[in-house]
Amino acid sequence: MTGIAENQENQVTGATIWLTGLPSAGKTTIAYELAGRLREEGHRVEVLDGDEIREFLSSGLGFSRADRDTNVRRIGFLAELLSRNGVKALVPVIAPYADSREAVRKRHGASGTAYLEVHVATPVEVCSVRDVKGLYAKQAAGEISGLTGVDDPYEEPESPDLRLESHTQSVQESAAALHALLTERGLA
Ligand SMILES: Nc1ncnc2c1ncn2[C@@H]1O[C@H](COP(=O)(O)OP(=O)(O)OP(=O)(O)O)[C@@H](O)[C@H]1O
Ligand SMILES: [Mg+2]
Repeated sequence: MTGIAENQENQVTGATIWLTGLPSAGKTTIAYELAGRLREEGHRVEVLDGDEIREFLSSGLGFSRADRDTNVRRIGFLAELLSRNGVKALVPVIAPYADSREAVRKRHGASGTAYLEVHVATPVEVCSVRDVKGLYAKQAAGEISGLTGVDDPYEEPESPDLRLESHTQSVQESAAALHALLTERGLA
Protein backbone atom coordinates (compact mmCIF):
# COMPACT_ATOMS: atom_id res chain seq x y z
CA MET A 1 0.00 0.00 0.00
CA THR A 2 1.26 3.46 -0.80
CA GLY A 3 0.84 5.78 2.15
CA ILE A 4 0.90 9.57 2.14
CA ALA A 5 4.35 9.67 3.71
CA GLU A 6 5.74 7.46 0.96
CA ASN A 7 4.16 9.62 -1.73
CA GLN A 8 5.65 12.72 -0.24
CA GLU A 9 9.00 11.04 -0.15
CA ASN A 10 8.75 10.18 -3.84
CA GLN A 11 7.80 13.72 -4.64
CA VAL A 12 11.06 15.03 -3.21
CA THR A 13 13.15 12.32 -4.87
CA GLY A 14 14.83 14.13 -7.72
CA ALA A 15 15.81 12.54 -10.99
CA THR A 16 17.18 13.59 -14.34
CA ILE A 17 15.29 12.21 -17.30
CA TRP A 18 17.23 12.86 -20.48
CA LEU A 19 15.35 12.47 -23.75
CA THR A 20 17.83 12.00 -26.57
CA GLY A 21 16.99 11.66 -30.24
CA LEU A 22 17.06 13.30 -33.65
CA PRO A 23 15.68 16.77 -34.43
CA SER A 24 11.85 16.59 -34.61
CA ALA A 25 11.86 13.17 -32.91
CA GLY A 26 9.35 14.42 -30.31
CA LYS A 27 11.63 15.00 -27.31
CA THR A 28 10.24 18.41 -26.33
CA THR A 29 6.64 17.38 -26.93
CA ILE A 30 6.90 14.25 -24.79
CA ALA A 31 8.85 16.07 -22.06
CA TYR A 32 6.14 18.73 -21.64
CA GLU A 33 3.40 16.11 -21.64
CA LEU A 34 5.18 14.24 -18.83
CA ALA A 35 5.98 17.49 -17.00
CA GLY A 36 2.30 18.40 -16.85
CA ARG A 37 1.38 15.04 -15.43
CA LEU A 38 4.17 15.09 -12.82
CA ARG A 39 3.26 18.62 -11.72
CA GLU A 40 -0.37 17.58 -11.24
CA GLU A 41 0.90 14.86 -8.93
CA GLY A 42 2.82 17.40 -6.88
CA HIS A 43 6.35 16.87 -8.17
CA ARG A 44 8.73 19.74 -8.62
CA VAL A 45 9.63 19.74 -12.30
CA GLU A 46 11.93 21.72 -14.56
CA VAL A 47 12.27 21.25 -18.30
CA LEU A 48 15.73 22.12 -19.61
CA ASP A 49 14.98 22.46 -23.29
CA GLY A 50 17.85 22.49 -25.76
CA ASP A 51 16.71 25.60 -27.61
CA GLU A 52 16.23 27.69 -24.48
CA ILE A 53 19.58 26.59 -23.06
CA ARG A 54 21.35 27.54 -26.27
CA GLU A 55 19.91 31.04 -26.06
CA PHE A 56 21.33 31.65 -22.62
CA LEU A 57 23.48 29.13 -20.76
CA SER A 58 25.18 27.94 -23.92
CA SER A 59 24.99 31.08 -26.03
CA GLY A 60 28.20 31.40 -27.99
CA LEU A 61 28.50 27.66 -28.51
CA GLY A 62 28.15 26.32 -32.03
CA PHE A 63 27.59 22.86 -33.44
CA SER A 64 31.11 21.49 -33.71
CA ARG A 65 31.79 18.22 -31.95
CA ALA A 66 33.57 20.06 -29.10
CA ASP A 67 30.78 22.62 -28.68
CA ARG A 68 28.02 20.02 -28.75
CA ASP A 69 29.92 18.07 -26.11
CA THR A 70 30.35 21.19 -23.93
CA ASN A 71 26.67 22.00 -24.32
CA VAL A 72 25.60 18.55 -23.11
CA ARG A 73 28.03 18.59 -20.18
CA ARG A 74 26.81 22.03 -19.06
CA ILE A 75 23.20 20.91 -19.19
CA GLY A 76 24.17 17.74 -17.35
CA PHE A 77 25.80 19.83 -14.61
CA LEU A 78 22.66 21.91 -14.18
CA ALA A 79 20.34 18.90 -14.31
CA GLU A 80 22.35 17.14 -11.63
CA LEU A 81 22.22 20.19 -9.34
CA LEU A 82 18.46 20.32 -9.72
CA SER A 83 17.79 16.62 -9.40
CA ARG A 84 20.08 16.28 -6.39
CA ASN A 85 17.80 18.82 -4.76
CA GLY A 86 14.55 17.01 -5.33
CA VAL A 87 13.57 18.26 -8.76
CA LYS A 88 12.52 16.10 -11.68
CA ALA A 89 14.76 17.58 -14.37
CA LEU A 90 13.42 16.70 -17.82
CA VAL A 91 16.00 17.28 -20.52
CA PRO A 92 14.80 17.11 -24.13
CA VAL A 93 18.17 17.66 -25.77
CA ILE A 94 19.59 15.83 -28.82
CA ALA A 95 22.91 14.87 -27.12
CA PRO A 96 24.32 13.09 -30.17
CA TYR A 97 27.48 11.63 -28.64
CA ALA A 98 27.67 8.56 -26.43
CA ASP A 99 30.73 9.94 -24.59
CA SER A 100 28.99 13.13 -23.52
CA ARG A 101 25.92 11.22 -22.36
CA GLU A 102 28.14 8.82 -20.41
CA ALA A 103 29.86 11.75 -18.69
CA VAL A 104 26.49 13.08 -17.58
CA ARG A 105 25.44 9.66 -16.30
CA LYS A 106 28.70 9.39 -14.31
CA ARG A 107 28.20 12.84 -12.76
CA HIS A 108 24.83 11.68 -11.47
CA GLY A 109 26.25 8.36 -10.30
CA ALA A 110 28.92 10.15 -8.28
CA SER A 111 26.28 11.84 -6.15
CA GLY A 112 23.90 8.89 -6.15
CA THR A 113 21.29 10.87 -8.09
CA ALA A 114 18.81 9.04 -10.30
CA TYR A 115 19.47 9.36 -14.01
CA LEU A 116 17.35 7.87 -16.78
CA GLU A 117 18.29 7.89 -20.43
CA VAL A 118 15.32 7.78 -22.79
CA HIS A 119 15.88 7.29 -26.50
CA VAL A 120 13.13 8.90 -28.54
CA ALA A 121 13.84 6.60 -31.43
CA THR A 122 11.88 8.17 -34.26
CA PRO A 123 13.48 7.24 -37.60
CA VAL A 124 15.04 10.01 -39.65
CA GLU A 125 12.48 9.39 -42.43
CA VAL A 126 9.67 10.35 -40.04
CA CYS A 127 11.58 13.24 -38.43
CA SER A 128 12.37 14.78 -41.79
CA VAL A 129 8.67 14.81 -42.72
CA ARG A 130 7.70 16.38 -39.34
CA ASP A 131 10.55 18.89 -39.76
CA VAL A 132 9.20 21.20 -37.05
CA LYS A 133 11.93 23.82 -37.50
CA GLY A 134 12.47 23.36 -41.22
CA LEU A 135 16.02 22.14 -40.65
CA TYR A 136 15.76 19.03 -42.81
CA ALA A 137 14.46 21.12 -45.71
CA LYS A 138 17.25 23.65 -45.26
CA GLN A 139 19.85 20.91 -45.19
CA ALA A 140 18.39 19.34 -48.34
CA ALA A 141 18.47 22.74 -50.05
CA GLY A 142 22.13 23.17 -49.09
CA GLU A 143 21.39 26.17 -46.84
CA ILE A 144 22.78 24.51 -43.72
CA SER A 145 25.09 21.59 -43.02
CA GLY A 146 25.92 19.53 -39.96
CA LEU A 147 22.38 18.38 -39.23
CA THR A 148 22.35 15.59 -36.67
CA GLY A 149 21.32 12.29 -38.19
CA VAL A 150 21.75 13.55 -41.74
CA ASP A 151 25.25 14.91 -42.28
CA ASP A 152 26.40 14.96 -38.66
CA PRO A 153 26.63 11.91 -36.41
CA TYR A 154 23.98 10.64 -34.05
CA GLU A 155 25.29 7.83 -31.88
CA GLU A 156 22.25 5.82 -30.87
CA PRO A 157 22.12 4.80 -27.22
CA GLU A 158 22.94 1.10 -27.02
CA SER A 159 21.15 0.39 -23.77
CA PRO A 160 18.87 3.25 -22.79
CA ASP A 161 16.60 2.90 -19.76
CA LEU A 162 13.71 3.24 -22.18
CA ARG A 163 13.25 3.45 -25.93
CA LEU A 164 10.16 5.25 -27.17
CA GLU A 165 8.76 4.64 -30.63
CA SER A 166 7.08 7.97 -31.25
CA HIS A 167 6.18 6.98 -34.82
CA THR A 168 3.98 4.14 -33.60
CA GLN A 169 2.83 5.64 -30.27
CA SER A 170 0.88 8.77 -29.42
CA VAL A 171 2.44 11.52 -27.32
CA GLN A 172 0.23 10.40 -24.41
CA GLU A 173 1.30 6.77 -24.77
CA SER A 174 4.97 7.75 -24.76
CA ALA A 175 4.54 9.96 -21.70
CA ALA A 176 2.62 7.15 -19.97
CA ALA A 177 5.40 4.64 -20.70
CA LEU A 178 7.92 7.04 -19.23
CA HIS A 179 5.74 7.68 -16.20
CA ALA A 180 5.43 3.91 -15.69
CA LEU A 181 9.21 3.61 -15.69
CA LEU A 182 9.49 6.36 -13.06
CA THR A 183 6.94 4.52 -10.93
CA GLU A 184 8.80 1.23 -11.36
CA ARG A 185 12.02 2.91 -10.18
CA GLY A 186 10.28 4.45 -7.17
CA LEU A 187 10.56 7.96 -8.59
CA ALA A 188 6.89 8.79 -9.18
N1 LIG B 1 3.89 10.30 -30.94
C1 LIG B 1 4.46 11.49 -30.99
N2 LIG B 1 5.33 11.84 -30.02
C2 LIG B 1 5.93 13.04 -30.06
N3 LIG B 1 5.73 13.97 -31.02
C3 LIG B 1 4.86 13.67 -32.00
C4 LIG B 1 4.23 12.42 -32.03
N4 LIG B 1 3.45 12.39 -33.13
C5 LIG B 1 3.60 13.56 -33.75
N5 LIG B 1 4.46 14.34 -33.08
C6 LIG B 1 4.83 15.70 -33.48
O1 LIG B 1 6.21 15.70 -33.82
C7 LIG B 1 6.78 16.96 -33.52
C8 LIG B 1 7.96 16.75 -32.62
O2 LIG B 1 8.57 18.00 -32.37
P1 LIG B 1 9.45 18.31 -31.10
O3 LIG B 1 9.71 19.77 -31.11
O4 LIG B 1 8.84 17.70 -29.88
O5 LIG B 1 10.77 17.51 -31.45
P2 LIG B 1 12.21 17.56 -30.76
O6 LIG B 1 12.65 16.15 -30.66
O7 LIG B 1 12.13 18.36 -29.51
O8 LIG B 1 13.08 18.30 -31.86
P3 LIG B 1 14.32 19.31 -31.71
O9 LIG B 1 15.53 18.47 -31.41
O10 LIG B 1 14.43 19.93 -33.05
O11 LIG B 1 14.00 20.28 -30.61
C9 LIG B 1 5.69 17.81 -32.87
O12 LIG B 1 5.10 18.63 -33.83
C10 LIG B 1 4.71 16.75 -32.38
O13 LIG B 1 3.40 17.23 -32.28
MG1 LIG C 1 13.04 20.14 -28.87
